[in-house]
Amino acid sequence: MEEKISEISRLKELAVSEIQSATNAKELDEVRVKYLGKKGELTSILRSMGSLAPEERPVIGGKVNEARDELEVLIKSGEEKFAKQELERKLKEETIDITLPSTKVKRGSKHPLNRIIEEVEDLFVSMGYDVVAGPELETDEYCFERLNLPKGHPARDMQDSFYITSEYLLRTQTSAVQARAMMANEEKSPIRIICPGKTYRRDDDATHSHQFSQVEGLVIDKNISLADLKGTLEVFVRKMLGENLQLRFRPSYFPFTEPSYEVDVSCFKCGGKGCNLCKLTGWIEVLGSGMVHPNVLKMNGYDPDEYTGFAFGTGLDRLAMFKYGITDIRLLYQNDVRFLSQFDRLDR
Ligand code: DAH
Repeated sequence: MEEKISEISRLKELAVSEIQSATNAKELDEVRVKYLGKKGELTSILRSMGSLAPEERPVIGGKVNEARDELEVLIKSGEEKFAKQELERKLKEETIDITLPSTKVKRGSKHPLNRIIEEVEDLFVSMGYDVVAGPELETDEYCFERLNLPKGHPARDMQDSFYITSEYLLRTQTSAVQARAMMANEEKSPIRIICPGKTYRRDDDATHSHQFSQVEGLVIDKNISLADLKGTLEVFVRKMLGENLQLRFRPSYFPFTEPSYEVDVSCFKCGGKGCNLCKLTGWIEVLGSGMVHPNVLKMNGYDPDEYTGFAFGTGLDRLAMFKYGITDIRLLYQNDVRFLSQFDRLDR
């Protein structure tokens, strides 16, 4: 019995010194397994209890448990010490040096066309208009037929088109949205909308791009007259291009308006005296417009005896070119940063 007891305290002393000399968590665990594991040296004393006299068992058992408890406390505090060391090592190793200069993020600038679109939208929203959108892949029906341009109509020749099938094409004009707005309005109540968006034609030179942008306007209500159209367009053109400009309404032809006008503005470069921009005429054409044709009202569910309306459409690219002095429309669609970044200045 004495022998057993001194064996236990010898094992404990050994274990304590091994725990103290462990230099990392792995070594510490090896010591735990060696003494306290299933086949550990202290555990095996407990296992051999059967060979002891019955009165010896509680004494020896007690001693072993005591030694085990003591060792467990030491091991636990050793584990904590190593875990803390490990955490400190990681924190040190993974520190981010926030003093390092960052790589410069280059901020883009707002596209000149988007600047124009936002300006136009703000203006018309302030006058009570809704901003609507329509599909760029449009049907022949909405792009032409419902605008009083049946199949085979000669005025279709004014718009070289990209047909996808005989019924679908890339819209040549945002005017398609006029028909969409009228058809979508089930109560056939008054309408006041603008629709800025992309349009497509088979054109490509310094003043024409196969993809370009227009804004369409449509107002339908009772007693809408040409005076309303003129007043609205004066506000629009003067706000966008210059407060003191004169407008000239020149009779023209569009299949969906009657009467129709092309609107010219006095040349904002030479003030009307004549220069290269206005081709010595003193005037620059900026808009197509007119009173909505009764056929168009009828075809899209409005009674022309009850309602009248006006419509207008203009190229946003032209507006941007005038406003920012851009000489080639294609620059607007080439995404060249050297061109686009020049508009940063307008934000400063
Ligand atoms: N859609 C015409 C075009 O692209 C422009 C236009 C003219 C629109 C007269 C209108 C309008 O709404 O009334 O050439």
